[in-house]
Amino acid sequence: MAIKRVGIMTGGGDCPGLNPVIRAAVMTGIRQYGWEILGIEDAFCGLIDLDYSSPHGNRWLTERDVRDIHVKGGTILGTSNKSDPFNYAVERGGEMVEVDVFDKVKANFDTLGLDALISIGGDGSMRIAQQCIDRGMTNIVGVPKTIDNDLGATDYTFGFDTAVQVATDAIDRLRDTAESHDRVMLVEVMGRDAGFIALQAGLAGGAHAILLPEINYRVEAIADMVRERREAGMPFSIVVVSEGTKPAGGEVSTLGPREAGAMIKLFGAGQKVAAALSEHIELDCRVTVLGHIQRGGTPSNFDRVLGTRFGEAAAHLIAKGEFGQMVALRGLDIVPVSLKDAVGTEKRVDPDGQMVRTGRSMGVCFG
Ligand code: F6P
Repeated sequence: MAIKRVGIMTGGGDCPGLNPVIRAAVMTGIRQYGWEILGIEDAFCGLIDLDYSSPHGNRWLTERDVRDIHVKGGTILGTSNKSDPFNYAVERGGEMVEVDVFDKVKANFDTLGLDALISIGGDGSMRIAQQCIDRGMTNIVGVPKTIDNDLGATDYTFGFDTAVQVATDAIDRLRDTAESHDRVMLVEVMGRDAGFIALQAGLAGGAHAILLPEINYRVEAIADMVRERREAGMPFSIVVVSEGTKPAGGEVSTLGPREAGAMIKLFGAGQKVAAALSEHIELDCRVTVLGHIQRGGTPSNFDRVLGTRFGEAAAHLIAKGEFGQMVALRGLDIVPVSLKDAVGTEKRVDPDGQMVRTGRSMGVCFG
């Protein structure tokens, strides 16, 4: 089948590196294959409703539209983590319920005359892409993104490197002021159920404790570490807290009930550790939540290049008719992997793995 029109969308939380993917896919598609490329606004929102326009709506992309966007964080297409067509939130009788609107997506895809779709997103977006394929919208290629780096099918996702650098810079700054004031500085980082950002930034920043979702913490162990440091003449400590961490026998910290069509929000892990720690030590405990700062800003060199390679590779897969694939980084190579296999292969920090062992050798407390 000759490909003429290709849609491209970004779904889930944004991250640095999305624009380099869009730029590379659009440039490769136009220059090498002469395609028309439709930028779809806010993930599936732009396919569920063709009148959707927040703020731009769907638009045909030219090379001019993607010129120099590789240096910009965010995504020029907008994104949404409430656009799952299989669990789409709509109001029914005064309350929000989740419904299946895939038929609208499929009909609009056909109305637009699209031959294929490049879906850039995290594990949720890859699962949705596979569900679309299962329901007959087969011509999809996936591109994995997330600052969490929690997709098992690829060694790295773009966004992670930039987020880790932001977190490392924050730790460096907090160490200065922690040392001046003899304080315990807790730095809460993102990552959801995976502790890669905390571990990588914590090791680079020389954190004294790193609390991961994969290792339940005991506050007594952190308090012991802080006391030992104080007795050794270092009355300050840096504790990196992954947002998805939880105390042994306790729960993950969340904000309110899950909204229809969305994931539960993680919130308050750092404060929870600080409150518990304050009951065991006399030093002042202060919390800095890095939050979405980790998701913005110009992408690092690594993320720009990985995004560019992913975008180019995705365009070639479409041209070859190799649908149902996701591009992935394996070692130094960009390779296609089956979306079906990629979906659900979550990656987590191995509590007995080499990175954690290195941390323990450096005296890091893992709670
Ligand atoms: O998955 C990426 C991520 O940044 C997580 O680390 C975090 O828990 C979540 O997204 C936050 O999403 P939102 O933008 O909805 O607050």
